[in-house]
Amino acid sequence: MIASDFMNFSSLVARATIANNKVHLDGKAIRRLIDGTPPAHNFIEQNFDGVFYTRDDLKFLDRISGNIRQLQDPYEQALAFAALFRSCLKRQPRGVFTISGDLSHYDDGRRDLRLSVEEHFLEQIEVYNNAVFDNGRRNKALRSDIFQLSNERVDLVYLDPPYVPRSDDNCYTKRYHFLEGLSCYWQGLPIDKTTKVKKIAKRYTPFSYRKEAVDAFDRMFGRFAKSKIALSYSSNGFPDLDQLVELMGKHKSSVTVFEKPHRYHFGTHSKVARANVVEYLIVGQ
Ligand SMILES: C[S@@+](CC[C@H](N)C(=O)[O-])C[C@H]1O[C@@H](n2cnc3c(N)ncnc32)[C@H](O)[C@@H]1O
Repeated sequence: MIASDFMNFSSLVARATIANNKVHLDGKAIRRLIDGTPPAHNFIEQNFDGVFYTRDDLKFLDRISGNIRQLQDPYEQALAFAALFRSCLKRQPRGVFTISGDLSHYDDGRRDLRLSVEEHFLEQIEVYNNAVFDNGRRNKALRSDIFQLSNERVDLVYLDPPYVPRSDDNCYTKRYHFLEGLSCYWQGLPIDKTTKVKKIAKRYTPFSYRKEAVDAFDRMFGRFAKSKIALSYSSNGFPDLDQLVELMGKHKSSVTVFEKPHRYHFGTHSKVARANVVEYLIVGQ
């Protein structure tokens, strides 16, 4: 099995869970990870104080960033990163890094917002250790733009690209810039200090633009013309279903659409906005 995404943090999660068939974080690795020696660097505390998390959380993130890099095994490192990313997501209201500063109005008493990042981390190590299993094959986790992937022959490709939504935007850097920065301690990813949430530059993808998305889907289907394709899609995306089916039909002799209604929930328990959409799985062969 091969997993691929162009974001570093996503590919680390895939390395921990898909490429990794057998490595777990044992007691020795965990002790090394939570070692309390003060960190050599305080980039996170310096840049994100008053933006995300508490000062203690930020100090922990600086410390753990150094400690993770002490682990020699790439799968151990990836597992620790995966646990850390999930801890950061759980501790951040709404789980996205588009909101910052005083977020107390999001506090609906849920446990995830009460625990420190460090407390989450210890729990998430166990969660990720339990997610490791051996499927008896050699698997890969790549970090690549879909249009630069080497042409590996695969029987079935599952595609889940972002789609230009009819409103708001779907930029993954905008939502998850903090995790992408954390995954490499912001090396080579300068922070735009003029932004309130201290974003990094967004990575270009044609799927984010109305003018380019149709051509991007066409080229993507063309790349996998020899494989079965299963594409995740939703009724609130652009281009619409009919157009996508037509595009896939250019490369596949049979296209089948499976659909399921879905209700999204946004926000906290007390103030929840909902949106009804239809989720599609479009299969071409
Ligand atoms: C809807 S999410 C997929 C989530 C994935 N199914 C999962 O469960 O983690 C879309 C993903 O496409 C990635 N992406 C966007 N444009 C890309 C491109 N040109 N090449 C590779 N990955 C891209 C984003 O980084 C994002 O993680």
